[in-house]
Amino acid sequence: MEIKKQLFGQTKTGEAVFAFTLKNQAGTKAVILTYGAAVQSLEFAGVDVILGYDTMPDYEAQDKYMGAVAGRFANRIGGGRFQLNGTEYTLCCNDGANHLHGGICGFDKKVWTADVEEDTLCMRYTSPNGEEGYPGTLCTEVRYHLDEENQLQIEYQAICDTDTVLNLTNHSYFNLNGHGSGTLQGQEIQIFADFYTENDTACLPTGVIASVADTPMDFRQPHEILERIDTDFVQLRHAGGYDHNWIPNCFVKEQMRKCAEVYARKSGIRLAVFSDQPGIQFYTGNFLDGIVKGKKGASYPRRSGFCLETQGFPNAPNYGHFPSTVLRQGEWFRSRTVFAFTKEHPDT
Ligand code: GAL
Repeated sequence: MEIKKQLFGQTKTGEAVFAFTLKNQAGTKAVILTYGAAVQSLEFAGVDVILGYDTMPDYEAQDKYMGAVAGRFANRIGGGRFQLNGTEYTLCCNDGANHLHGGICGFDKKVWTADVEEDTLCMRYTSPNGEEGYPGTLCTEVRYHLDEENQLQIEYQAICDTDTVLNLTNHSYFNLNGHGSGTLQGQEIQIFADFYTENDTACLPTGVIASVADTPMDFRQPHEILERIDTDFVQLRHAGGYDHNWIPNCFVKEQMRKCAEVYARKSGIRLAVFSDQPGIQFYTGNFLDGIVKGKKGASYPRRSGFCLETQGFPNAPNYGHFPSTVLRQGEWFRSRTVFAFTKEHPDT
């Protein structure tokens, strides 16, 4: 495995942004930017399966969290408020009346520092006390490693000087027929989950843990992503497609399990997602709008990429019955996600 560094561009404020290319012996290549610690591309079996942009102005012009680390708190916190140790905290609201993916200037918009440690890329960002309304100075490290089995491994670590809340994820949009190949047609997904968290009209959990049985949310057997997406089912109507937190079965703290698998018939590419987190947001790019042109002039219209965001449950700080997302002062947060790629013979 080799890692190469090159200048990618600079932010509006003149900060240099670097691109690190991780390449294994099979020729699989991942490009990671110091802007947002974002995965900019992932070339597997000759196909670039991740949506992204070619320039910094494009990254700064979009608001889709393209490839980035979402933090401090991935997904929504209702009303931008939560209580911790009897104190109420108010966060910046950037999604109507709610807080989304860390707020107005979340981790996706920060320039991270980067070091190469042997065959791992280590990115770090220190979020000052009070940033976006969160308590405590939080040091976060995200480590990227591409192994010889074509697995992109992501490790998250964080520590804070006060009690706080934390939920870190990667917001890559995948299209296994290639970024810019159009909609998600011909790609089937399996999610190993009996339950999901039901949403309200603002995409916030209602607190109800719902069974997937007899609904279009049931992916225990593989289904085409687009097959049932426009069904007249209230959860899909609310979100304009899939945009929910599934609860993969067999959660044991700190243990990896397979959460989901996606297969594209045309390319023969299969992606399996492993995680130690209690939830996974399956989002079908319902808000993609093609406004900012993607890499090599590609267009990213609605539903042309899917995200599989391994995570704690959205709005967990406001629900006592959700797995806790509290990070105690001085304790290490540690979590892992693996995106594993394999190729089968295409059907055609
Ligand atoms: C997803 C979220 C969507 C939307 C998207 C960003 O993670 O679930 O509702 O906000 O990020 O456009």
